[in-house]
Amino acid sequence: MSQELVQAAREARSRAVANYSNFQVGAAVETGDGEIYSGCNIENSSYGLTMCAERVALFKAVSEGHLNFRRLCVVAHSDKLTAPCGACRQVIWDLCGDIPVLLVNLKGDQLTVSSAELMPYPFDRSFL
Ligand code: THU
Repeated sequence: MSQELVQAAREARSRAVANYSNFQVGAAVETGDGEIYSGCNIENSSYGLTMCAERVALFKAVSEGHLNFRRLCVVAHSDKLTAPCGACRQVIWDLCGDIPVLLVNLKGDQLTVSSAELMPYPFDRSFL
């Protein structure tokens, strides 16, 4: 249920470590068998080592043995709905293929886009 997914992403956002940008993000991914894994962004004093919420959620799920994903949700506090960064788009496409990505803010505005829309003309395993 998408409400559960959104709630998991909202809760994860509250655990963000975002001392440098003050921009807290939460993400949650639903596996093929209906489990939900969530993640928050984790910033680092060596800024480039920062990890986005989307990749934390996905890597947690993959490391627990999941390679099948139904949809992903991103929650942030912005009027303009926050979309995954370029690096996360590549990872989402690679691990999930074409899935719905729910963009949600704290006011409850919501937009669903597909990962294919987010990542046109992608590089992936089909080239290798
Ligand atoms: N960030 C995410 O976690 N996900 C996004 O979709 C956009 C950006 C994080 C990275 C960094 O900690 C902060 O937001 C500002 O860029």
